[in-house]
Amino acid sequence: MTVTAASLASVASRFALDGVVESVEPHGDGHINATYLVNAGYRRYVLQRINTTVFPDVEGLMRNIRLVTAFLRAKGCETLRIVPTRDGADYWRGESGAWRVYDCIEGTVSYNLVPNAGILREAGAAFGAFQNQLAGFKASQLTETIPHFHDTPDRFARFRAAVDVDVCGRADSCRGEIDFYMDRAGDCPVVTDALRNGGIPLRVTHNDTKLNNILMDAATGKSRAIIDLDTVMPGSLLYDFGDAIRTGASTALEDEPDVRKVHFSLDLFRAYTRGFVGAVRGSVTAREAELLPFGARLMTLECGMRFLTDYLCGDVYFATAYPEHNLVRTRTQIELVRQMEERDAAMRGVVDDVMGDGGEVPDEGVPPANGDAAGNAAVAGERAAGAMIGACAAGGNGTMPEDGTTGCAAACGDAA
Ligand SMILES: Nc1ncnc2c1ncn2[C@@H]1O[C@H](COP(=O)(O)OP(=O)(O)O)[C@@H](O)[C@H]1O
Ligand SMILES: [Mg+2]
Repeated sequence: MTVTAASLASVASRFALDGVVESVEPHGDGHINATYLVNAGYRRYVLQRINTTVFPDVEGLMRNIRLVTAFLRAKGCETLRIVPTRDGADYWRGESGAWRVYDCIEGTVSYNLVPNAGILREAGAAFGAFQNQLAGFKASQLTETIPHFHDTPDRFARFRAAVDVDVCGRADSCRGEIDFYMDRAGDCPVVTDALRNGGIPLRVTHNDTKLNNILMDAATGKSRAIIDLDTVMPGSLLYDFGDAIRTGASTALEDEPDVRKVHFSLDLFRAYTRGFVGAVRGSVTAREAELLPFGARLMTLECGMRFLTDYLCGDVYFATAYPEHNLVRTRTQIELVRQMEERDAAMRGVVDDVMGDGGEVPDEGVPPANGDAAGNAAVAGERAAGAMIGACAAGGNGTMPEDGTTGCAAACGDAA
């Protein structure tokens, strides 16, 4: 729905702003919500129309954000602040949709692409700090705004059903890909079982670890706040780490048709892992640390399996530009899983090195992301992330999914 400038101003003025609305302009590069910047005298605010197709339970969604941000704020972290309506509610619903307002976090920038491996490491530190800060938060009190989000056995069951039904008669064109996932059925329940039997803790997960969901300080380049908290849900730390590696450590676009261009970069894996583990070292358990490389593989496996499921079902979920688009995406994810399997020992070695390093991790060895093959790949990979992470995360058929928010790496005393 197109909303006029006048009605945007009228929506904004329903909130308890500190000043009179002067202008409302489109803002940011989000794919899920419609985001606007509101000028109100000397204060600026972010107004968002919540995507209720992706998030029908607005009440539960806003409650999650309220609980998580209150917890972070109490710890002294910079985070989103919900500006209430004039009636004291977290959001306002009218004919034009469901709306909310946050304080604008001033003096920050966000990136859509990975400009260099240093930024990738900073991103890892930001999401690791997010995990660390929320380690004491009771995750079970959060609503599952998207049920079964990373329930990999459930994803596998849906995949298997799609193969059995083969509604479009496409299964014969992708037997190799189908077999790839069938052969790895045993991997699917590892994390959900560990959560269930207490082998790893249930935690708050962000579930949309895109780079542009981190606000970085414009002057220092350090992360200030993690935003886009729409998908905070109970889950495993391995989900956030794994999904970030799936996109951040790949050298190609998620839908690169030439699979020979798809490389899993151990250097980029190391950069992100250094940042992430460095920040979360204080609260990560030994079993979680051990499973980090597997978590990266599992998230890549799960995402590819979802693409293949959608291909078999006739492209009903993810937006596609051509008939084999979902199959092409599946193949890049399969290639990444293959390479991660081959390099499992090296990935474990990276985690062990970083876990064993109690102090500052030196910068040597962090590759430049621009100017070499791996770097260019990183840029491409993040471009893919920007385009599709969300899609894999939640949305369907043209509606991009959610993403979450939060964050405070440098801003909090107890980070990293
Ligand atoms: N509180 C905020 N302060 C400053 N910028 C913000 C704030 N919230 C969102 N933004 C900007 O708006 C963009 C989109 O917001 P986001 O909540 O991530 O929406 P989406 O779910 O559509 O990705 C962000 O990438 C960021 O650039
Ligand atoms: Mg976002």
